[in-house]
Amino acid sequence: MKNLKIGNISLNNNIFLAPMAGITDSPLRILAKQGGAGLVYTEMISAKALLYNNEKTNKLLKISNQERPIAAQIFGGDIHSVTNAAIKLRDMGIDIIDINLGCPVKKVTKTGAGIALLSNERLIAKILEKVVKSVDIPVTIKIRIGLFPGQNIATSIIKIAQNSGIKMVVIHARAASQGHSGKPDLKLFAEACLTAKIPIIGNGGITDEKTASDFLNIPNCSGIMVGRVAIGNYLIFKRLEDFFNNRKTSTIPSKEEKMDWLKQHVNCSIKHYGEKKGLIIMRKLTNYYIRDLPNATKIRDMFNTMTTISDFNKLIKIIKL
Ligand SMILES: Cc1cc2nc3c(=O)[nH]c(=O)nc-3n(C[C@H](O)[C@H](O)[C@H](O)COP(=O)(O)O)c2cc1C
Repeated sequence: MKNLKIGNISLNNNIFLAPMAGITDSPLRILAKQGGAGLVYTEMISAKALLYNNEKTNKLLKISNQERPIAAQIFGGDIHSVTNAAIKLRDMGIDIIDINLGCPVKKVTKTGAGIALLSNERLIAKILEKVVKSVDIPVTIKIRIGLFPGQNIATSIIKIAQNSGIKMVVIHARAASQGHSGKPDLKLFAEACLTAKIPIIGNGGITDEKTASDFLNIPNCSGIMVGRVAIGNYLIFKRLEDFFNNRKTSTIPSKEEKMDWLKQHVNCSIKHYGEKKGLIIMRKLTNYYIRDLPNATKIRDMFNTMTTISDFNKLIKIIKL
């Protein structure tokens, strides 16, 4: 297992938590760090909203020291807003700036950001060069392997990134048109890694030792990023690290372990947002914890109406594993 260095920042390992909008807030990132994640990211943040001092956006940047080092991910379609947002984030004490060049969601692409930028290499080069020159902290990017299956756009973007002073590239190895389903294209990913001179991190469909090894066995792949499977399964980071260091295989988390994480998550969420809001925010995440339980629908319905920690404690007592 490599101890990666991104610019001047040393990471404990090369297994990262993926940024996931609406999911990877501060409470979840703290749990992922406890579970051994080498690096966590904020949810993607609109560069323009940050510059307009949007209250909701500012709240996404409430970060606890336990999360450090932390990367803040921004999206934007023009040099001015991305650069100034990066400067603002640096001034706020963020450790690493990540620029989103891989999001296919319309809300993002209609602003010229995310994958909308991937087909405009000249503009990407200008944005990256300006941001790197404007902040004295590492700047990284997250991209897709291509826009449609079979296309490798990553090789040329990596070249641009290297020439612009970018310190690391994360590649989601599914094409943008695949969204978040289907298999990552490991052949194209290997092709993209071949000529890279900066760390390349693989992402997409990593769920266990086998799928993690599929990426890490590729020459020049410096690390991996884990997304949805980490929710309620935060020890996946330590387990994978243990596997790569000591060849120790371990089991998927038990239902008991998941319930322990759920309790910790609820407590963290309440601490961060307050009792009522903390529980409301947890509603959209409960399914990741309970979907394998025999009475999942009933538990979900109960969860969706609770507003106090004592309601939650009563519910936990009646959950049958
Ligand atoms: C609900 C959701 C929100 C996401 N939000 C972001 C985001 O804000 N920024 C980003 O770069 N990728 C985002 N992604 C993509 C993930 O970072 C990751 O690339 C993707 O989930 C594939 O990894 P996985 O197969 O391990 O889940 C999101 C994915 C999901 C499912």
